[in-house]
Amino acid sequence: MTWLGLEGRVCVVTGAGRGIGAGVAHELARHGAHVAVLDRDAASADAVAAEIASAGGRSIGLAADVTQQDAIAAAAERVQRELGACHVLVNNAALVGYAGPLMDADLNQWNRMLDVNVTGTLICTRAFGRQMIVAGQGGAIVNVASICGHLPLTHGGVYSVGKAGLLMLTRMLALELAEHGVRCNSVSPGLVRTPATEAAYGDSEVAEARRRLVPIRRISEPEDLATVIAFLASDRAGYVDGQDVLVDGALSQSLMGWVPRPPGPMRPS
Ligand SMILES: NC(=O)c1ccc[n+]([C@@H]2O[C@H](COP(=O)([O-])OP(=O)(O)OC[C@H]3O[C@@H](n4cnc5c(N)ncnc54)[C@H](O)[C@@H]3O)[C@@H](O)[C@H]2O)c1
Repeated sequence: MTWLGLEGRVCVVTGAGRGIGAGVAHELARHGAHVAVLDRDAASADAVAAEIASAGGRSIGLAADVTQQDAIAAAAERVQRELGACHVLVNNAALVGYAGPLMDADLNQWNRMLDVNVTGTLICTRAFGRQMIVAGQGGAIVNVASICGHLPLTHGGVYSVGKAGLLMLTRMLALELAEHGVRCNSVSPGLVRTPATEAAYGDSEVAEARRRLVPIRRISEPEDLATVIAFLASDRAGYVDGQDVLVDGALSQSLMGWVPRPPGPMRPS
């Protein structure tokens, strides 16, 4: 047994065909979990599952869109049949992007983003959480929120509203599922280099300016999130419920550092 005790645990990770989700799937598999890699992109889901299998792990790829109840129900049935009842669900799938100012944002974009980033989480939680309840062995859900759910993202209002909703959804689900021994927490990443954000990090000036903005002076990688998520998914976090963990290198704490001051100390008056 490793410290986390995730061996043989059936874990489902959504949006796991690339980026943070793929990092989480690999991390859980490294701890001996049996991992269902769910993504709307079938080829990337299968590719990540194949990588896990070739490293000696147990994994299946599932092609499904988190907003499609029937497809998610079918995916849940397949998990139950091939791996057993889900014990850990990581709701990571999301649309990442800027839709512009809220006053002008296209309502189709608004609806689609909230559909994937909030409603999709509820749909997956119902399908896989039901398996946890029926199996009666407890379980853990980890939602991937964002620093933008805590702090408004300029011109990213739709994204920020969705992630703020996800933070409350996490707390609500924690309350509702506690009696079944199912915990629900979230992580809020700060700046992460993934395919979704590659355009920013491919531009060396933007990348360096972003790096300097983070107090820890480093842009995070999917692994920085994956290890925290694995901990929250494990029994080691058995008394942590309804919480959010900001994994942002102290970026969210840095605002007051930008306030101009005269040189030298300022004495209390
Ligand atoms: N990258 C960042 O800087 C950052 C920062 C804060 C939070 N996050 C959050 O982390 C999570 C992962 O982000 P990422 O950067 O790895 O994104 P990404 O775009 O690189 O990967 C997202 C994956 O989700 C899948 N997906 C999207 N919509 C789906 C749907 N409807 N059904 C099933 N699968 C779907 C995509 O196919 C893709 O494989 C998201 O919840 C995002 O909001 C990312």
